[in-house]
Amino acid sequence: MTRVALAFSGGLDTTVCVPLLEEEYGYDEVIGVTVDVGQPASEFDEAEETAEALDLDHYVVDAKAEFADLCFDSVRANATYQGYPLGTALARPVIAEAILQVAEEQDCDGIAHGCTGKGNDQLRFEAVWRDSDLEVIAPVRELGLTREWEQEYADDKDLPVEGGSGGDWSIDTNLWSRSVEGDELEDPSYVPPTDIYDWTDEPSGESEEIEITFEKGYPVAVDGEEYDSVSLIEHLNELAGSHGVGRTDSMEDRMLGLKVRENYEHPAATTLLNAHEALEGLVLTQEEREFKQLIDQRWSKKGYEGLVDAPLVGALEGFIAQTQQRVTGTVTVRFEGGTARPVARDSEFAAYSAEHASFDTETVGKITQEDATGVAKYHGFQRRLANAVTDDADADTETVELATDGGEE
Ligand code: ARG
Repeated sequence: MTRVALAFSGGLDTTVCVPLLEEEYGYDEVIGVTVDVGQPASEFDEAEETAEALDLDHYVVDAKAEFADLCFDSVRANATYQGYPLGTALARPVIAEAILQVAEEQDCDGIAHGCTGKGNDQLRFEAVWRDSDLEVIAPVRELGLTREWEQEYADDKDLPVEGGSGGDWSIDTNLWSRSVEGDELEDPSYVPPTDIYDWTDEPSGESEEIEITFEKGYPVAVDGEEYDSVSLIEHLNELAGSHGVGRTDSMEDRMLGLKVRENYEHPAATTLLNAHEALEGLVLTQEEREFKQLIDQRWSKKGYEGLVDAPLVGALEGFIAQTQQRVTGTVTVRFEGGTARPVARDSEFAAYSAEHASFDTETVGKITQEDATGVAKYHGFQRRLANAVTDDADADTETVELATDGGEE
């Protein structure tokens, strides 16, 4: 008796995978696994109903807390990819691990997903699964299925597939972001209608300020009230979303090299990332900030690839943890016109001296304004020498050219 665990959402792709895993891959039994990383309740209802109609053994695993913690690690790394926060990308390894665990507990021989051969998710899932000895199966990719074929097959077999709650868009939702793609959105010149958005309202013209508290780079409280990671994100998605914060419409370069048009909503992520960076601006030294940008970029890239357990990430985390020792304090963020703008920051670790920076003080300790004179004399010194030499050379060439031109006129 052979058994295969399928990453199951109840959508068209994963629904057709159920009979195909038996017919085409010869498995005796398929079990479906849905992992909760903060999708809306309607998605679990859909998965549950479809599983029942298919007579599929269905497991639901709650991985929200683990996922939210990873999102907060990404805040410490100021993680974005091509300008948007990593949602789908960070969720995939968490989902993949959870499914693998069920597959092993249920003595499965194989493990399968319904991803196509065009996206990133096939790579992110399989990177985790190929660590195991299970047979990794990707029916949609391996059998070259199209949506049209799947729809016909489902009709023929009388499989329980409906339009899905998202209409014609392909939607991926978790705590950190909601992504919308497909159909007319595939045309980069098509302006998305407002109904693609679900988490964000049109900005109202009203503004609101909130205060976010960080401890060692981790968000811990909003307006003085402490939250665990999941509820802090949920709370900010509501609040910032009501001000239209966190929409992205971008051309994304996928790992395979394909360029695609993607729309995202991520109110909490945008708010926390902006606030965190503002606090780093107060407490980190210039060279730490500069170097950390390189670290953050590499972290983000591994996050996008779904490889957050790579040794490189562990090493980057070492640097991040060291810098975040001082990223403790509060940031006031103003929601206004669809933006979440830091307007105040405060920390006991501020690498800042108002006295030294102020226009109103002349001497602080042993430092006077006059001390900058020497620095001012040397600033740009080499450039002065180099430009003087080039200017001379240019002047010479110009004379020659002028002479020639003059001769012809
Ligand atoms: N392109 C994004 C990524 O690879 C998200 C894709 C989400 N999928 C969707 N059906 N909207 O991270």
